[in-house]
Amino acid sequence: MKAIVYTKYGPPDVLHLEEVKKPALNEEQVLVKVHAASINAGDLHMLTADPFPLRLTGFGLFKPKNTILGTDVAGLVEAVGRNVKQFQPGDAVFGDIFGLGSGSFAEYVSVPESALALKPSNVSFEEAAAVPVAATTALQGLRDKGNVQPGQKVLINGASGGVGTFAIQIAKAFGAEVTAVCSTWNMEMARSIGADYVIDYSKEDFTKNGRHYDLILAANGYQPLSAYERALTPHGIYVFSGGLPAQIFQSLLLGPLMSKSDGRKMTSVMKKANQKDLLFIRDLLAEGKVKPVIDGCYPLSKTPEAFWYFEKEHPRGKVVISVV
Ligand SMILES: NC(=O)c1ccc[n+]([C@@H]2O[C@H](COP(=O)([O-])OP(=O)(O)OC[C@H]3O[C@@H](n4cnc5c(N)ncnc54)[C@H](OP(=O)(O)O)[C@@H]3O)[C@@H](O)[C@H]2O)c1
Repeated sequence: MKAIVYTKYGPPDVLHLEEVKKPALNEEQVLVKVHAASINAGDLHMLTADPFPLRLTGFGLFKPKNTILGTDVAGLVEAVGRNVKQFQPGDAVFGDIFGLGSGSFAEYVSVPESALALKPSNVSFEEAAAVPVAATTALQGLRDKGNVQPGQKVLINGASGGVGTFAIQIAKAFGAEVTAVCSTWNMEMARSIGADYVIDYSKEDFTKNGRHYDLILAANGYQPLSAYERALTPHGIYVFSGGLPAQIFQSLLLGPLMSKSDGRKMTSVMKKANQKDLLFIRDLLAEGKVKPVIDGCYPLSKTPEAFWYFEKEHPRGKVVISVV
């Protein structure tokens, strides 16, 4: 099969199209013919081995152990192992295959059935491939860490990227009043997917305008933790999802110290893929409550260009790779 392979860490130019062995199928696995995949910040971290400690966490000290990247997948089931119960050949599926051996920037993947869900018929393969990682992160950040409730004032910082565009729509699906923070260029898009208010970060600092929020999801952005704390209501919750390495450490180390047992909470989300949440998101897609925002689609052979674009530009929503 054709796959995008990398044998050393580096910039997107180290990715190249190669003919490799089609993955084997064991009794517990589903063989998926990949129709589309999408790029996540995690793929870029694994491509560049940045931050450095990634190399010490099983990804490979001097070179990548897994030579095919790609976590989000959508495609058609080609074959199933003997013990697979939920799927059959011909089913259209999508899922998050992080850590399962196969990467999705390839023509086929073999994965356990628990990583997959049936694709709703109202979304394309490209749209479905944009969903799993970013939407699950947004869902778990808002619902599990942020305890989002109807009527609450929720602010999404970094609202125009992969995680942010899902976070706007999922918070709306939970009945919250949503304020999106993004650049001038993306304000109209944020409104079009449901944001009640939009703040242009190049013109206004939401941590200094005197407004307070019950829940802030930091999908991206550059504010220090103390500024986020200032923008919370007395019982508000701040959830860190993404940003600069310094913000990760601040949130992990200082967050618990700044949290009050009976008041504000400063916490973070680390996405954990599970089929229950994928099915929850699947229902939101099927009901039309969530619609993926796609910046652009690149053919498999142009994956390096897609990574350059993802790294250097500010993608609006997701960058997708069309494999078929
Ligand atoms: N915790 C987890 O489990 C988990 C899972 C997935 C991803 N992440 C992390 O989440 C972060 C975002 O991921 P993503 O896929 O959404 O990335 P992305 O698509 O690259 O999102 C970047 C977005 O951030 C916005 N942005 C840039 N500077 C900003 C600023 N100063 N203020 C507000 N927004 C700003 C950009 O908006 P404009 O274009 O409008 O400037 C851009 O649309 C990454 O750091 C990633 O590593 C974490």
